[in-house]
Amino acid sequence: MASIKGHIHILQGADELSRALADYWLRLCREAVQQRGRFMVALSGGSTPRLLHEVLAQAPYRDAVEWEKVWVFFGDERSVPQDHPQSNYHMAVETLLSQVPIPATQVFPMFAPALDAPQNAQHYAAQLAEHVPLDAEGWPVFDLILLGMGDDGHTASLFPGTSILQEAEKSVAAVYVDKLVTWRVSLTYPVLNHARHIAVMVAGAGKAETLRQVAQSAAGSFPIQGIAPVAGELHWFLDRAAAARLPQGET
Ligand code: 6PG
Repeated sequence: MASIKGHIHILQGADELSRALADYWLRLCREAVQQRGRFMVALSGGSTPRLLHEVLAQAPYRDAVEWEKVWVFFGDERSVPQDHPQSNYHMAVETLLSQVPIPATQVFPMFAPALDAPQNAQHYAAQLAEHVPLDAEGWPVFDLILLGMGDDGHTASLFPGTSILQEAEKSVAAVYVDKLVTWRVSLTYPVLNHARHIAVMVAGAGKAETLRQVAQSAAGSFPIQGIAPVAGELHWFLDRAAAARLPQGET
């Protein structure tokens, strides 16, 4: 039986989850700036991160984070314009990046409509290679990658049954998601699993059954089970509603 690997933090509700994650962000940011002079983070898409972003954009976090030393990338992106309501970049700008003094040159949108999805993936891989510190194997090493989980157990744009799940060479790939009838661009497992820290945020009763299945199904049943840091740390930030069906041993 697969269990949920890593450190599990269960918070009362979405507010408490977001504050716990904001404290985690602040701690990791201070460590990274102290040790390497900057904080390299990849944001998650979807709706769950909105609350975290809003917490980070307010005191005390807004004033405590050294935003001028933060470099922001994205875990995945939809193939839509950067001002589209479905754009993960648009959501991040709206809820965080427009509220904090982060230099625009340190924010890297993942999709530009002038290119198609495969071209965007190739371009983003080149940007990662240029700006993110590489390990001995040439993989970009983020200080923190934030992830969510869909109710089908996908994370970033690693959807069940898609080709990107087998990608072992590229750091960024384009993937056609049949059920969404659309292209996505996403970091691949090797980059995700080379991060120093990965934080998965899961909130709400709607995710409880999927989380139970992820915890109790054989490895390989859900894409999010492939999140297994090579040398880094994996932390799950759950609210009670999402964790409600986890086996006792998982909580
Ligand atoms: C995306 C995300 C995706 C998301 C999950 C959970 O672009 O949609 O990267 O992986 O994290 O679908 O989304 P919610 O937070 O909206 O439930």
